[in-house]
Amino acid sequence: MLRALLLYLSQAQWARRMVTRWSVAWRVAARFIAGETLDEAVALVKKLNAHGYYVTLDHLGEYTTNAAEAQQATDEAVEIVERIHADALQSGLSVKLTQIGLAIDPDLCERHLERILVCAQTHGIFVRIDMEDSGHIEATMDLFRRAYPRFGVETVGLALQSYLYRTREDAAALGADAVRIRLVKGAYKEPETVAFPEKEDVDDEFDRITDVLVAATHEAGAPEARSDGRCPPILAVASHDDARVDYARQAVEAAGLSKRTVEFQMLNGIRRDLQESLLQEGYPVRIYVPFGREWYPYMVRRLAERPANLSFFLANLIRR
Ligand code: FDA
Repeated sequence: MLRALLLYLSQAQWARRMVTRWSVAWRVAARFIAGETLDEAVALVKKLNAHGYYVTLDHLGEYTTNAAEAQQATDEAVEIVERIHADALQSGLSVKLTQIGLAIDPDLCERHLERILVCAQTHGIFVRIDMEDSGHIEATMDLFRRAYPRFGVETVGLALQSYLYRTREDAAALGADAVRIRLVKGAYKEPETVAFPEKEDVDDEFDRITDVLVAATHEAGAPEARSDGRCPPILAVASHDDARVDYARQAVEAAGLSKRTVEFQMLNGIRRDLQESLLQEGYPVRIYVPFGREWYPYMVRRLAERPANLSFFLANLIRR
């Protein structure tokens, strides 16, 4: 109920206008977000790399509503790729297709994606396409399927969400082509017609899809995460849930695969204890580092995931 309300608020313009005026909101967001500028994000990436973490950078923004904004978001994505190269960061880029025009015109979005991927391929940088709400999944899959044969495993991969009924089949089909997949539970409000309504089912499905991707890794000759952090393995487990992480570790071990055939990914500022222990055990760990001015929907989705974050937000609001 609370999750549904917060997910609604994450997309409500009136709530965004109200909340972003409160300085306390930025204080809460700053737990998760590197800052508003690329320089601030790069400073954090350097710190994380020095510690042994890989990164994926996310320039916050989604659902652009006009061609000029989509063009600007594309220019900025290209600038980030150039900067990752120039500063030799152990980082990739994460992109939301609605940010570069998917909801306006899929052809425009395809041209923008192509521009980003050409730049990424030139510099050997990996771009992960985030998965958004189910209304955009078919179009996202279409654009991915067209880009993948041209740009290949080292340049482009995709996120898949275990809350969707369709995902296990998508994972099997993409895994057979050695597509680099980031497996997540899913962060949007979805109807029961497309997504499991119960958390236990979403968790269980996450493990089943992990099995599918471990098998795909085996079939593909067990490709590992590249040591420069530039290309992830087939399976990236993106969860802060101990049970999901443990399951993946055991599945990889039981299949006789090395620790570098799975990558663990977590959001900046969440479960630092788990990030650190996985790194110490010798697993590749990648931190998702968002930055930029469009932090409102990202912050509210993080509040929706964990009531304790909401209490922190409300406590700060009362102290204001
Ligand atoms: P779950 O929500 O069950 O949480 C398990 C435990 O993790 C909690 O008990 C708590 O300890 C901790 N935790 C989780 N969220 C927290 C938070 N916000 N604050 C503090 N602690 C928290 N989604 C999507 O739809 N499309 C996408 O492309 C992506 N991309 C993506 C990349 C990466 C690297 C990550 C880690 C996640 C995403 N997500 C995503 C978000 C994902 O779908 C999901 O909403 C969150 O990861 C929360 O789910 P968990 O798997 O962590 O489990």
